[in-house]
Amino acid sequence: MCGIVGYIGYRDAYPILIKGLQRLEYRGYDSAGVALFDGNNINLAKTKGKVEDLSKKAKTDISLKGTLGIGHTRWATHGVPNDVNSHPHYSNSGDLVIIHNGIIENYESIKKELGKRGYTFSSDTDTEVLVNLIEEVQKTEDVKLGKAVQIALNQVVGAYAIAVFDRKKPDEIVVAKLGSPLAIGVGDKEFFIASDASPFIEFTNNAVYLEDEEMAIVRLGKEIKLRKIKDDAIAYPNILELQLNLEEIEKGGYDHFMLKEIYEQPRAILDTYRGRLLADQGIIRMAGIDDHLEKFLNANRIIIVACGTSWHAGLVAEYIFEDLARIPVEVEYASEFRYRNPVITDKDVLIAISQSGETADTLAAIKLAKERGAFVFGVCNVVGSSIARETDAGAYTHAGPEIGVASTKAFTTQITVLTLIALKLAKEKGEFSSSKFHEFLTELETIPAKVERALQSDELIKVIADVYKDSNNCLYLGRGYNFPVALEGALKLKEISYIHAEGYPAAEMKHGPIALIDEQMPVIVIATKKGHYEKVVSNIQEIKSRKGQIIAIVTEGDEQVRNLADHVVEVPETLESLTPLLTTIPLQLLSYHIAVMRDCNVDQPRNLAKSVTVE
Ligand code: AGP
Ligand code: GLU
Repeated sequence: MCGIVGYIGYRDAYPILIKGLQRLEYRGYDSAGVALFDGNNINLAKTKGKVEDLSKKAKTDISLKGTLGIGHTRWATHGVPNDVNSHPHYSNSGDLVIIHNGIIENYESIKKELGKRGYTFSSDTDTEVLVNLIEEVQKTEDVKLGKAVQIALNQVVGAYAIAVFDRKKPDEIVVAKLGSPLAIGVGDKEFFIASDASPFIEFTNNAVYLEDEEMAIVRLGKEIKLRKIKDDAIAYPNILELQLNLEEIEKGGYDHFMLKEIYEQPRAILDTYRGRLLADQGIIRMAGIDDHLEKFLNANRIIIVACGTSWHAGLVAEYIFEDLARIPVEVEYASEFRYRNPVITDKDVLIAISQSGETADTLAAIKLAKERGAFVFGVCNVVGSSIARETDAGAYTHAGPEIGVASTKAFTTQITVLTLIALKLAKEKGEFSSSKFHEFLTELETIPAKVERALQSDELIKVIADVYKDSNNCLYLGRGYNFPVALEGALKLKEISYIHAEGYPAAEMKHGPIALIDEQMPVIVIATKKGHYEKVVSNIQEIKSRKGQIIAIVTEGDEQVRNLADHVVEVPETLESLTPLLTTIPLQLLSYHIAVMRDCNVDQPRNLAKSVTVE
């Protein structure tokens, strides 16, 4: 999610806020805004577009005076990117103003209740609901802002980094954190608030990083007061002296955005099923599906169109939909589909998968399918993107901005969304008993922690990367659900290290590729315990007998493959259809480390663009 900034002190706030938002631009965003207190009024400017657009609008529209202010760059999750949905948001009285990074899952029920009490809303965002909940608590409980924020956040489910101030008490800013980052820069008679230290590192390198479920009242001339949101217990600020430079801060301390985004996957997967996967209630709630359920249940088939990594996610979805929901699925390269005069009817459902939501071939395929009567559903990571607006309905991945050209967290969050859809349809079709469905939902909830465990092989993978970094070719093999993961692993290696790599169904080796095997050919084999394990072991033996170098991705505790392979990387056990979410992690890390060792430009590989908006 994007960026928040705040300032309270003796300096003019506006220059600090606008420069701070520019410093946060690397986090990707679709709109921006600032709110300043000039001693009497709150002056607020916000706009769809870039920080530069905000700067122009602010200079012409509002007074830039004041030593108290907050600013925001938005990565929309609820409400398309436009001026009204941009932050900051006022409360109904106009006294409170808030900025927020994250997702309030239960905002609809809160909005409904506030509506009954006469609150109105100008935006479609979850954030505007939160600021009015805080206002309602302030009024009904007759408490100050800090206490009102605390009471309100105890009624909220979701993720947040918020900053809010009250025109009636302009000597403080209240901040709170759960799931999204929030740092407080501690200066001499001034405080800075930001998503990371980049907006304030030039003013102070003393920072307090809030922990989850902590809040703080930042008041001029006072020490920071930290509180636990749940029980009001006092927390003591741990003021760190930062030694980071600006570039290191932007990448969250990682060397590259790609590595940062690989490590963000546990949170990205969690954010993507947050509010949709309600395991304790045994339900999956997805408005884009719920409102069009009959289309899916009565479809002759589902056609999936995408490009690149998104196409690989579509292939995984083919296995999931057919295996679990028993719905026929075809997966097509969008670039081929759009030109081959495909047979499409109004009994078809087309699912378009796209991280950027701007891929030209995918957009063209959608338009063709709509012209021929299909119902079109989008899975995008950018709210309000062209593909999101062109489709009849959709479900967003909540991966947050993906900056690295090589797609990583988009892939795993796309699979997460597609799995939720397949499970929901399987349940609706009666393909799943309630107990099997509940088992599945419960297992899906363990995936973020299992991805964390898979990431712990990073150092081992670095050692393996060093052995094979000078290879000229590489083969990736997988079966069943992990055949698309083999393709994805090969693409990752190709696009960032420029080593030629191919993904293949493991059983296809004997139909030609096995001729390539010799001691110069590293072969990455996905050999998890689920799905045709013994047959994959046979494939490994065939390769070994021809002196191929074997790197095996196995289930934790596997000894059989360990005795055959040259290198083994373990991933936690899970259900067969969920293994792609785990087996892709070591392949992402392997390609990353090899590319770094080859001095390649990992985040901007040669000849590639993050979004291919041309044919
Ligand atoms: C994957 O690492 C590449 N960046 C590329 O294949 C990408 O997946 C493809 O261009 C599709 O992009 P989209 O998901 O934004 O439509
Ligand atoms: N959920 C909020 C919105 O859509 C905040 C999004 C963000 O983190 O930028 O406005």
